[in-house]
Amino acid sequence: MRGVEKAFGSFKVLQGLDLDFKQGSITTVLGPSGTGKSVLLKHMVGLLEPDAGEIVFFGTPLSRMSRTEKYAMRQRYGVLFQDGALFGSMNMFDNVAFPLRKHTDKSEDEIRDIVLQRLGEVGLDSALGKFPNEVSGGMRKRAGFARALVLNPDVVLFDEPDSGLDPVRTSLLNDLILQVHAEHGGTYVLVTHNIPTARSVSDYVALVWQGKRIHYGPTEEAFSSDDPFVRQFLAGDSAGPLGMD
Ligand SMILES: Nc1ncnc2c1ncn2[C@@H]1O[C@H](COP(=O)(O)OP(=O)(O)O)[C@@H](O)[C@H]1O
Ligand SMILES: [Mg+2]
Repeated sequence: MRGVEKAFGSFKVLQGLDLDFKQGSITTVLGPSGTGKSVLLKHMVGLLEPDAGEIVFFGTPLSRMSRTEKYAMRQRYGVLFQDGALFGSMNMFDNVAFPLRKHTDKSEDEIRDIVLQRLGEVGLDSALGKFPNEVSGGMRKRAGFARALVLNPDVVLFDEPDSGLDPVRTSLLNDLILQVHAEHGGTYVLVTHNIPTARSVSDYVALVWQGKRIHYGPTEEAFSSDDPFVRQFLAGDSAGPLGMD
C-alpha cells in the first residue's frame, strides 16, 4: 500500500498509509480499535477504493486491473473474517467445500479429500456435520481458517483472529496459524489489537496509528525498540507520546 488515503465523509480513516508485506512471511498490523484495520484489508482485496495512493498486488496496481484481473486476484486471497463468517445454513463440511464447489470444477470425491484434509489440520475432523451455531467461537474460527486455505491462496488475510477468544484459545489458534504457515507457506497478513498475538506469530510488525504507519520492522526489533512511540504502543501504556485522539 503506497500513500493510501481514505475518508468516509469528512472523517479521514487512512491518511497516507504505506505498508509492505514480504512474500512468504507473516506480518501483523497492530492498531487500536477504530484505526482502520478492517478498512485497510478491504482496500487490499479491492472491496474499497482509495481516495489517493495505490495498492500493488504482486507488481500490478489494482487501479490498472480489469474486472477479470481483479476477479483472478481475489482468488489468490484467502480471508478469515472476525467470526469466521461461516454460512449459518451449512455444516462445517459444506462451508469448507463451498469455495471449491464455486470456483473449481473438481469432482465431489476430490472435494471430499481436500475438505477432510483441511478440517483435519485444524482439528475439526469430528465436527464435519455440525452447524456454526452448534460449535464454539474457537471452532468457528478454525473452520473459517480451513475455508480460507482451501483454494491454496498466495495471500491469507486475518481480521482479528483472536477477537472473542480467551488467552488459551488465542494461543492455540496462533500455534495453528504458525503450523499451517510452516507447512504450506504463503504471505500472511494479520490485523489485530492483541500485542501478545503480534509477538508470537509475526515475522514483521507494522504499527498503525491515526491512519498512518508509525513503525515497521522485524518483530524482535519492534519489541526491543527504544522509540518512545513504539514502546508505549507495545506496552499498552497510557503514559507517553500517544494520546487518545
Ligand atoms: N463503510 C464505512 N462507512 C463509514 N465509515 C466507516 C466505514 N467503514 C469503516 N468506517 C469507519 O472507519 C473507522 C475505521 O474502521 P475499521 O477499519 O473497522 O476499524 P478497526 O481498526 O477497528 O478494524 C471507524 O471509525 C469506522 O466507523
Ligand atoms: Mg476491524
